[in-house]
Amino acid sequence: MHPLEQLRDDALRDIESARDEQALEATRVKYLGRSGSVSSWGEQMKTLGKEERPIVGKLLNETRNAVAAAIEQRAGKLRSQKETEALEKIDISLPGTPSERGSLHPLTQMLDRSIDIFRRMGFALADGPDIDDEWHCFDALNTPPEHPARNEQDTFYLPDGRLLRTHTSTVQIRAMQAAPPPMRVIAPGSCYRRDEVDATHSAQFHQIEGLYVDEKVSVADLKGTLEFFMREIFGPDTLVQFRPHFFPFTEPSLEVYVKSKALKGGEQWIEVAGCGMVHPAVFEAVNKARGDKAYDPEKWTGFAFGLGMDRLAMILFDIPDVRLFAQNDLRFLRQFA
Ligand code: DAH
Repeated sequence: MHPLEQLRDDALRDIESARDEQALEATRVKYLGRSGSVSSWGEQMKTLGKEERPIVGKLLNETRNAVAAAIEQRAGKLRSQKETEALEKIDISLPGTPSERGSLHPLTQMLDRSIDIFRRMGFALADGPDIDDEWHCFDALNTPPEHPARNEQDTFYLPDGRLLRTHTSTVQIRAMQAAPPPMRVIAPGSCYRRDEVDATHSAQFHQIEGLYVDEKVSVADLKGTLEFFMREIFGPDTLVQFRPHFFPFTEPSLEVYVKSKALKGGEQWIEVAGCGMVHPAVFEAVNKARGDKAYDPEKWTGFAFGLGMDRLAMILFDIPDVRLFAQNDLRFLRQFA
């Protein structure tokens, strides 16, 4: 047996018995490293005679290849062994972490139901910013500078003079600025007032604004629309009452009350909305901003309303305290899942 063959057998045995990657690397260095035993045979080649050299050279090559191949094979084996061991540590019989199903917030449910009813009556959705200017919130809505709603005690003002809108009526103005009549839109959204927070008052609350402008729109259309809406929400036996009121942006102005046996405390009239016929001064303000006569009050009439979503949801779901909506208590929220 040639010493190189002996060397190869020794190497293969060492490789086979390497227990981990470190031992295998030491073995590689021992045989194939720069001063390893296989490599030092390369040096010895120079001392061989002409006849011996090609034979030994071939043998040396074969040895080097065989050792390198064995190392690679062993490395692969060690790697997969390590992976298997790691996997064995995972207990696949352990129960997983279930992902919990969420549900819609009661106010969102109330909004979705309401929007759906108005869409069936042909109302499109309109939108406006929560932070608006005084003109959209008050001036354009015929609300004079001395009106209490404009007071700093009642409204959140920003340093630049803008404010958190106190009602969604701002979107009436924005919708009319953006398009000529006929107009039939609703605008759901948040409103803000510096109210003392208690069971029925919150600094942030929600409304759906409605606006319908066309030729010959009357109070009868307004009453029909809101009566239909209330009966869809609270059931066919719901009674709806309109009481005279005052809003600067409507004339006449009305408040809407509902009463229904189907509801807890249903023997009481509960106020749920403000509404009225759009005041000509509102049309004129819009015309002025538009720079045209698109909303000519001699030609067009319209009704508008503002529905208190929090109040409606409290009645419908029998919720005693408006603060529950914002407290994020799962014991409360799960009841509406
Ligand atoms: N913006 C009024 C409020 O927040 C509600 C309201 C009353 C809206 C009459 C209207 C309306 O569109 O016509 O109290």
